[in-house]
Amino acid sequence: MKVSVILGTRPEIIKLSPVILELERSGLEYFILHSGQHYSYNMDRVFFKQLGLPEARYNLDVNSGSHGLQTGRMLIGIEKVLKKELPDVVIVQGDTNTTLAGALSAVKLQIPTGHVEAGLRSYDRSMPEEINRRLVDHCSDMLFAPTEKARQILLGEGIPEDRIYVTGNTIVDALYRNLELAENRREIMDRLGLKKRRFLLVTVHRQENVDNKKRFSGILRGLALVYERFGYPIIYPVHPRAAKRMREFNLKPEGLILIDPLDYLDFLLLEKNARLILTDSGGVQEEACILQVPCVTLRYNTERPETLEVKSNILAGADPESIVEKAEIMLERKCNWPNPFGDGKAGERIVKILIERFGR
Ligand code: UD1
Ligand code: UDP
Repeated sequence: MKVSVILGTRPEIIKLSPVILELERSGLEYFILHSGQHYSYNMDRVFFKQLGLPEARYNLDVNSGSHGLQTGRMLIGIEKVLKKELPDVVIVQGDTNTTLAGALSAVKLQIPTGHVEAGLRSYDRSMPEEINRRLVDHCSDMLFAPTEKARQILLGEGIPEDRIYVTGNTIVDALYRNLELAENRREIMDRLGLKKRRFLLVTVHRQENVDNKKRFSGILRGLALVYERFGYPIIYPVHPRAAKRMREFNLKPEGLILIDPLDYLDFLLLEKNARLILTDSGGVQEEACILQVPCVTLRYNTERPETLEVKSNILAGADPESIVEKAEIMLERKCNWPNPFGDGKAGERIVKILIERFGR
């Protein structure tokens, strides 16, 4: 069996790291195909280094652009590589343009495709991610659903049962593997002058939040009100999309400590030590839940309903008053919920399923 792992963005690198390391450990033949969707050092290379991942055999250097341009370039580049390498199976993860281009290129060449983190739905068709994940789920041959709920969603959409495997979410594997390393660090806490449970952590980067001036400024206003009301320092590592829009819209956030995106270990450490996390990120909602840190989601919906059910998370949307109100609720919440995302062995399970199906 020869496996092609296709990735391109920060969360794909992190969430595919357990699968890649398990392929490596099992001595299987595989290669990484990087679309180049993320390319800044702190959105890409730093994660390869820190997670101990081998170099990508190919990097298409697609970089940024409109959805059509970016996805189109990826389709052209990925098809070329797959035709040359002829893998037996392609693995993609999540819901980005890279995920869509990877899966579409592979299935058109009739290469069996596995989708890691299948079956998530926000039911919000204005999000590019919702379109990507639906299309990828429906064209893939193997659907690695993180939870039973995700499996039920796929079954409900008419996907045959024998294509779906409940594996847990690979984010748990990545987090368990790296938490101790993160906890041995302190430089970032010292540099920012932070004390355990005495600060809040924010990330905001979703297209529907930051590309809309009114909505982005509403969120920033809400965060400023949270600072005024509760007085905890608020750390915001700013994603490059958000940084670009902040400049373009001339927004001047108040009450926030803005920093560059962090590497995985520093970010995990801040998550673990935060009193509260406010975010519109998918992965960060999950990590907060796993780490027993309360989370306020700066969106009107989530494709991670498990976090709402166990009460680790609450939806605040983008309205300033609602953000403060939901922050107050979550600051008072008792943090003793179960982790709904699995036992940290999702990577192992996925590779075992591949071996069972394609041999070694
Ligand atoms: C993408 C994914 C999103 C995911 C996010 C993870 C899609 C449709 N969106 O969004 O689902 O949550 O990655 O972080 O695939 N930029 C840089 N350096 C980089 C990458 C991007 O400066 O390395 C800037 C560019 O100005 C670019 C902008 O960020 O225009 C947006 O990048 P893009 O890859 O289009 O989307 P993300 O917002 O990163
Ligand atoms: N992350 C990181 N540094 C940061 C912000 C996030 O390492 O400064 C990690 C975080 O731990 C999580 C992942 O990036 O595993 C989430 O990625 P992102 O929010 O970009 O994408 P999403 O999950 O929303 O698709």
